Amino acid sequence: MYAQLVETGLNQVQSLADMGEEERAFQARIDAGVKIEAKDWMPDAYRKTLIRQISQHAHSEIVGQLPEGNWVTRAPTLKRKSILLAKIQDEAGHGLYLYSAAETLGVSRDDLIAALNAGKAKYSSIFNYPTLSWADMGAVGWLVDGSAIINQIPLCRCSYGPYARAMIRVCKEESFHARQGYDIMLSLCNGTPEQKAMAQDALNRWWWPSLMMFGPSDAESVNSAQSAQWRIKLFSNDELRQRMVDQTVPQAEFLGLTVPDPDLKFNAATGHYEFGAIDWSEFHNVLKGNGPCNKERLKTRVKAWDDGAWFREALVAYADKKAARAAA
Ligand code: 3HC
Repeated sequence: MYAQLVETGLNQVQSLADMGEEERAFQARIDAGVKIEAKDWMPDAYRKTLIRQISQHAHSEIVGQLPEGNWVTRAPTLKRKSILLAKIQDEAGHGLYLYSAAETLGVSRDDLIAALNAGKAKYSSIFNYPTLSWADMGAVGWLVDGSAIINQIPLCRCSYGPYARAMIRVCKEESFHARQGYDIMLSLCNGTPEQKAMAQDALNRWWWPSLMMFGPSDAESVNSAQSAQWRIKLFSNDELRQRMVDQTVPQAEFLGLTVPDPDLKFNAATGHYEFGAIDWSEFHNVLKGNGPCNKERLKTRVKAWDDGAWFREALVAYADKKAARAAA
């Protein structure tokens, strides 16, 4: 039944009355806040949803290295270069934790990466935008990693143990990523008028795609209701998006930058910022593979996989030889 729900993408959940005994017992564990572990019984659709989300998350970490890799050789100082290198290295590690968490669900990392390289697997839309200036390194750290933290902190408390535990380490490192990004923006905004203009240009280009990172509106989200019932999703897409806007607008004001949304205004009654309409046609276009950098990102990932084949083969050959020696 869960599989049908997830397959048809109906934004509804299965009632307890429709569940079998095992599913009811499983849901009772979820409702009691019990962590589900790899060896526990779980509905096929719960497993399928986790494989979908965790693999996409892992792909996002790996593809997410590419926009920043573009600026390693052009960082303005050795210090900025070493910070950027450390951040990019962290993202590779995040991909590692997440592919490992996905593998606990019975999938192979090679199959997941094959799906990505074949253009059959999603990764976060945000990484299909170009990084055109050094200020983009600031905007990406501040806005993209800042958004990722808002999305990932609740995942530290999600129902699937291996995913929740992977997120704890990821979030600690993400906070460094966001701070170094904001520090870049602060330096530029305190710099020459040209540097401040560069920071404003980066904010103009990264603001709306960062809001899209949180996914479609709650009304359009086909997976949210079921993911919420399974406590994979503890807050809705719109709730986390609102949290990002409320947190980030004062930071932009402190920088002396203008958020590129003429409809943005603070509502004292609700305590939240109201913001303009998101261009969902752009979002869906990027998801269809028509973003500014989709093709380039995929091509780079395929080349990296192909170029690394000799290294993977050498590791396997060494491991086989070592195992054969141990067995002799
Ligand atoms: N980019 C690409 N696809 C997206 C998307 C985005 N920003 N937002 C939603 N989608 C896709 C979903 O995957 C789903 O498609 P699918 O059913 O084929 O998988 C469809 O759009 C409908 O969206 P839903 O809201 O129904 O889907 P989810 O319930 O999965 O919610 C999500 C989407 C909020 C992104 C959720 O999957 C999630 O929280 N994922 C984990 C966090 C994550 O992946 N973050 C990505 C960024 S990681 C990062 O930024 C790294 C950092 O180091 C910089």
